[in-house]
Amino acid sequence: MLNQEFIQNLEKKSLAMLELATTPSELGQCEIDILGRKGMMSTALRALADASVEDRKAFGPKLQKLKKSLEVAIADRRKLWEEAEEAKGAALFDPTFPVDPVLPIGHMHPVTQIVHEIEDIFSKLGFAVADGPELETERYNFDALNFPKNHPARDMQDTFWVKTDTREHYLLRTHTSPVQVRYMEKHTPPLRVIIPGKVYRNEATDASHEHTFHQFECLVVDIDVSVANFLWLAETFFTEFFHKKTKVRLRPSFFPFTEPSFEFDIACHLCDQKGCSVCKGTGWLEIGGAGMVHQNVLVAAGYERGKYTGFAWGFGVTRLALMRYHISDIRLLLSGDTHFLSQF
Ligand code: FA5
Repeated sequence: MLNQEFIQNLEKKSLAMLELATTPSELGQCEIDILGRKGMMSTALRALADASVEDRKAFGPKLQKLKKSLEVAIADRRKLWEEAEEAKGAALFDPTFPVDPVLPIGHMHPVTQIVHEIEDIFSKLGFAVADGPELETERYNFDALNFPKNHPARDMQDTFWVKTDTREHYLLRTHTSPVQVRYMEKHTPPLRVIIPGKVYRNEATDASHEHTFHQFECLVVDIDVSVANFLWLAETFFTEFFHKKTKVRLRPSFFPFTEPSFEFDIACHLCDQKGCSVCKGTGWLEIGGAGMVHQNVLVAAGYERGKYTGFAWGFGVTRLALMRYHISDIRLLLSGDTHFLSQF
């Protein structure tokens, strides 16, 4: 029976229930029991629908007002508790409390450590350090480096091409050499620069091949630069880097952007040249490619043909990390295995 007394009782009963709720979950249950679909308030509102027109006019607004005030009472109580919880948390947090010394502290990835070391060695020798985009255009990665249009390196098997709607074709750079051209466009010789960076190849991976790895490019352009200058610099660098004399060997090779071109190997320290999985039993580790910068590349960068000579190399930093840390599988470096990485 819907009347004034019923509404007063509903209010009293609801407030008493709220009073008894001492935890957030009890408050939640109270809310369901009072305001939920099958709760007291909903039952009363359904009864109102069956009441006479006069009763509806007399008690409808009162019931709605009570519903609103109960909603506010529940929300206020919940807010009060939340604030109390927050204050409790803040009180528990003591910013002067000493850090637990057992907590693991992060550190540089071994490849990053090596990149920094390389930058230090070359900075002392008066080299600048530059970088360039990893999302590169076909023009810088291939065309300006004198790659013929049908060169196999442009193939889908070697290069990660990126789909775009632009006329320019984009790819993930396959080497750091495109930055040679970018750098030369902005600087005039004499120049000495190294360019460390990440490169990508669509490769089948094994103990010494990754799809994502680091290289560093070295570029020297001046008047009368020769292969002898390159050899001196390479030997000076590896002696500094390994803290001991490291045997190097050059093999004739071909790169479209250098003439003559060389493949550059260093003695494998992992197995003392006895042969291991990383050097594939040869005792030598292929570290990089090098050569005298092709005149077509100097011209593509805006220099006068024949005015300057230079050498360039591109070395695999990731392979240097294998040697330095005696790691027998390159894939471990990108595995994200913190147990493995914490050793360095
Ligand atoms: C190049 O990338 C040339 N841009 C190097 C160059 C620069 C030549 C300047 C002349 C002048 P290449 O493809 O050989 O060359 O790669 C250079 C080095 O990167 C290799 O010797 C090797 O140490 C490393 N490397 C190549 N492929 C991989 C791979 N899949 N995983 C790890 N290291 C690799």
